[in-house]
Amino acid sequence: MEIIKYVLFCVVVSLCSCDAYKILVVFSMPSPSHGILADNVVKHLLKAGHEITYVTPYIEKQKNQTNVHLVDVSPVQKILEDAGEMLNFKQILDGADDIVYNKNVLFELVATVSNKTLGNPNVQKLMRDPKQKFDVMILEYMFNDLFSTFSAVFQCPYIWFSTIEPHWEVINMISGPMNPAYNSDYLQARIPPFTFLGRVQELWTQIKGLYYHEFDFYYVEEAIYQQQVVPILKEQGKPVPDYNELKYNASLMLGSSQVAMGNAVPLPPSYKHIGGFHIDEEVKPLPEDLKKIMDNAKNGVIYFSMGSNLKSKDLPDELKKGLLEVFGGLKQTVLWKFEENLPNRPKNVHIVQWAPQQSILAHPNLKLFITHGGFLSFTETIHFGVPVIAIPVFADQYLNANLARKHGIGERVNLSYNLHKDLKVTLDKVLGDLPKYTSRAKVVSAAYHDTPMKKGEELNFWVEHVVRTRGAPHLRSVALQVPLYQKLFLDLFVLLLVAAVVLLLVVRTIISLLTSKSPKLKKN
Ligand SMILES: *[C@@H]1O[C@H](CO)[C@@H](O)[C@H](O)[C@H]1NC(C)=O
Ligand SMILES: *[C@@H]1O[C@H](CO)[C@@H](O)[C@H](O)[C@H]1NC(C)=O
Ligand SMILES: *[C@@H]1O[C@H](CO)[C@@H](O)[C@H](O)[C@H]1NC(C)=O
Ligand SMILES: *[C@@H]1O[C@H](CO)[C@@H](O)[C@H](O)[C@H]1NC(C)=O
Repeated sequence: MEIIKYVLFCVVVSLCSCDAYKILVVFSMPSPSHGILADNVVKHLLKAGHEITYVTPYIEKQKNQTNVHLVDVSPVQKILEDAGEMLNFKQILDGADDIVYNKNVLFELVATVSNKTLGNPNVQKLMRDPKQKFDVMILEYMFNDLFSTFSAVFQCPYIWFSTIEPHWEVINMISGPMNPAYNSDYLQARIPPFTFLGRVQELWTQIKGLYYHEFDFYYVEEAIYQQQVVPILKEQGKPVPDYNELKYNASLMLGSSQVAMGNAVPLPPSYKHIGGFHIDEEVKPLPEDLKKIMDNAKNGVIYFSMGSNLKSKDLPDELKKGLLEVFGGLKQTVLWKFEENLPNRPKNVHIVQWAPQQSILAHPNLKLFITHGGFLSFTETIHFGVPVIAIPVFADQYLNANLARKHGIGERVNLSYNLHKDLKVTLDKVLGDLPKYTSRAKVVSAAYHDTPMKKGEELNFWVEHVVRTRGAPHLRSVALQVPLYQKLFLDLFVLLLVAAVVLLLVVRTIISLLTSKSPKLKKN
């Protein structure tokens, strides 16, 4: 018996130790959906037996895990809480929300989050600790490049993690800008093919964005690198790489996307789709009360949730009343995720303060999902093959709403003081043609599921691949080494221009020589 135990022990130890790596995971965007993605990255890596050091603002859920060393950056939550006061329905409705309508405000916000993360005493302690060694790092890419500076401290390969559809700002980090003739900026939210004006706007957006990235924001970020990281490198006698070398040195980019959900845009070999990895393979059972409501809904259920950032309770009263009236007129049961109790509810409308969204979407009686179109909700609706009506409110939600329309799985409604009226029209349209939308949702869902590996396994595979191949140099896009002027053949253009000018001058001189000589010739 003892022998068997010993053999088992040895097998377990050898299984776990042969490719158990030390991995640093840094996700500091203090937004619940980013926290969900990060927690699930950690979950899959732990399942594969790796040892994780996890920099996160959300430490509560992780506290009892073994093999996880938590680095608490919860003070960054304050930055978004302050910004959160700017992010509410009323201001968005009135077109007065800076985070939503002004990209530079967003950039400043995320630079502050990164600065506060790097400067956090726990992170500083981690960087100063000579015992800390990692095989690879997974760093959230949130519109600034600062986390790449961890690679100067720990001198190991790193992987960017992108949280939405691949777009030029993230692909720029691993391959260079994308062709704006058919790649949309995520806020422009266009679906190709573009009109002439659309292409020009995409081009202008990229030119402006690249300028900010390479100049304006470069100096802000470089200064933060100098202040928060360079002193540590000097103390430890490590080389101080140029900031530009660090930030364009990722081994890989993991994207929370799937090609079946998006536009099939051409991507470099170092971009890997792992979208859907955050969804549990086994659907958790619904709580009893919800299960009863859904099981008993003879005409099906419509689920309505505006996500975790915006609170439905901040909706103006006339909109709440209007929405209740619209829902009351439906024969379906409506589940509305709402943070407070709503008086005078019609019989078929139920309020849930907290909603196990995946379990609701998986229920066979669910007919339609009315969503803000956040990336996680969009992924989940495709995972479970449910039609949607999307009411985008900010960031990539417009793009997701437009993609839902493109794929034929739903419609888009704009947020306005007329929301209830517009929603009624769209509800009539979608419910009137529900089998068509549902069958499209099933088709897209089947393509999304038909991948060679499970999404979580794929995440682990690529992370381990980077370690096994010492930074995966073979995957790096050659395009990254080619300066933009060469990609655009501007050097050839200049050469041809100079040649044309020279030719013109030569011809002109010859002509003028000939014409000035000709009188003499005549005289002779
Ligand atoms: C962690 O474990 C302690 C003691 O076992 C328990 O009281 C606590 O509720 C657990 N916390 C979480 C978040 O699971
Ligand atoms: C970054 O944070 C430090 C404090 O840790 C502060 O002194 C500095 O001004 C900040 N830099 C920027 C660009 O915000
Ligand atoms: C870039 O990455 C490679 C492979 O991970 C590494 O060998 C090299 O030192 C890195 N360069 C810098 C400047 O960090
Ligand atoms: C919603 O807004 C977009 C962008 O402003 C516009 O193109 C679209 O036509 C609007 N949709 C409806 C149904 O009004």
